[in-house]
Amino acid sequence: MRKVILDVDTGVDDALAILYGLESKQLEFLGITTVNGNVPLDMVNSNTLKVLQLAGRDDVKVYPGAESPLIREAEHEFMVHGTDGIGNALDDVTLEKELDNQFAPDFIIESARRHRGELTLIMVGPLTNLALALKKEPRLAGWLDEVIVMGGLVSLAGKGNSLPNSEFNIYADAEAARIVFHSGAEVTLVSLDVTHQTFLTIDHIETMKGTKYYNFVKQSTDVFRNFSMQRYNINGCALHDPLTVGFAIDKEFLETEKYFVDVETVSPLGYGQTICDFRNLWKKEPNVNICLNVDGEGFVKHFLETISVD
Ligand code: RIB
Ligand code: CA
Repeated sequence: MRKVILDVDTGVDDALAILYGLESKQLEFLGITTVNGNVPLDMVNSNTLKVLQLAGRDDVKVYPGAESPLIREAEHEFMVHGTDGIGNALDDVTLEKELDNQFAPDFIIESARRHRGELTLIMVGPLTNLALALKKEPRLAGWLDEVIVMGGLVSLAGKGNSLPNSEFNIYADAEAARIVFHSGAEVTLVSLDVTHQTFLTIDHIETMKGTKYYNFVKQSTDVFRNFSMQRYNINGCALHDPLTVGFAIDKEFLETEKYFVDVETVSPLGYGQTICDFRNLWKKEPNVNICLNVDGEGFVKHFLETISVD
């Protein structure tokens, strides 16, 4: 099985990604690392631990990471993920599982050193932890198999979700994203261009009735689905993070091509914009695999089949 570390800012779709990755039985989770993002780090930690309790996976350790971006002030997404980050769906769960005491960037470095060339990082929150790890250990990029990042938009000008041309994970820490994109690691960017073709609708969720995670999925996505109704007129939760995990499970879900991609870290109009040089105007070596197409229907079907367990 593919060795992975999943870096999360749990968040509703992060929670779905954790359940999907674990239930796929295709990935060997060396651990889950947490980062400030959708909600503050303490909520991310609690949510991630509770989701693992729900899944009955006490074997999977959680390593706390950065509680703030490298430079900019933290901004959160309570409007999308609810006041606690998972739609208050696990309020009645008593937290028993504890965090590991190793700092996430150090765990990433240690794991990559130990599993040279075999470790895939799946990054579904702001890239602060990986940027800190790369700054501490510059050889890290060469030790990794690949880095799959949920973030950005490359062809959907004006259809960002934080600024017109910026997606939240990159916008939340653009300086960190720039370090990762220029690190020399094998990076694939699973952007809004494809994740916005993978909505989990209320009709999809109702097909899960009677299965283990039905109540959690329906309740945790309620705020997210209401937000989507207002913004996109879709009663659904975009599977941003699950699709990113899906690429680690089966690359056939996405068609990718490598281009030079840079990140805007200065302009207030475009902070966090992922700029893909399709016409090679900058004459720079391609550094990021971007996603051109997705089998959206096929992915949502696989996601539902995988998490509809008893
Ligand atoms: O823009 C979507 C991304 O931002 C997802 O990872 C979501 O969880 C939030 O972190
Ligand atoms: Ca996320």
